[in-house]
Amino acid sequence: MKLTIVQFAPVFGDVDANLERISGFAEDLAGGIAVLPELCTTGYAFEGREEVAAFAEKIPGGRSCEILGGLAREGGLHIVAGIPERDGTHLYNSSVLISPTGETAVYRKAHLFLEEKSWFDPGDTGFTVHRVGEARVGMLICFDWIYPEAARVLALRGAQLICHPANLVLPYCQDAMKTRAIENRVFIATVNRTGREERGGPWYEFTGRSQVVNPKGEVLIRLGEDEDRAETVEVDLAQALDKKMTERNQLLSDRRPDLYGEITAVK
Ligand code: ACM
Repeated sequence: MKLTIVQFAPVFGDVDANLERISGFAEDLAGGIAVLPELCTTGYAFEGREEVAAFAEKIPGGRSCEILGGLAREGGLHIVAGIPERDGTHLYNSSVLISPTGETAVYRKAHLFLEEKSWFDPGDTGFTVHRVGEARVGMLICFDWIYPEAARVLALRGAQLICHPANLVLPYCQDAMKTRAIENRVFIATVNRTGREERGGPWYEFTGRSQVVNPKGEVLIRLGEDEDRAETVEVDLAQALDKKMTERNQLLSDRRPDLYGEITAVK
């Protein structure tokens, strides 16, 4: 399957310009699946919940889904992209998966980062897995990376590829995702943005270095810190079905959940 990552710097608040920018990658969006950054239609540094409310869209039904759906249809591919979502009075930092025939699935970010705790409601979708052709695909968003439980649940539910839109500011994730990929034997596409945003509150410097890692933890492609571009890699997602680590070790069925109680206990 073709797996395309699209790294760029959205302009804060200019949804039209950002959708136009994304549409400008159309030639790179053909077949397979493409992953774009977190909040890629709006930018990141909101001044408060009211401002998020002004930009949040219905999924499906909003303008961003319409434009992304058009790209998916024309390119014959699935697209994963981060957009702010409105559902009644709730606001979520969400990632949408859009198929070439217009079906949508949504993941709402479970682990909110820093000021996001004031801007959004915590996600309530859980970690779901969706069919993309023959493969099974799950989504995480940015800071979810630091909770290994999230990727593990996706692996236990059969995800072969984790699509991971991000707006990373800490320096650890790209290396940590090699471990997430090894410990779950999955592919992970972490797609970050570039640039800097400062709008009166805290400033954010985004770290780029979007990447695709295979189940052996090998980095198949990694973009630069400041590069705004798309890159495609051919991946054999069937490799993620093989959970045999040695002749006597099966990654998932050898787990000892009887010893892991604290991990799911509510504190
Ligand atoms: C982040 O979760 N956007 C750092």
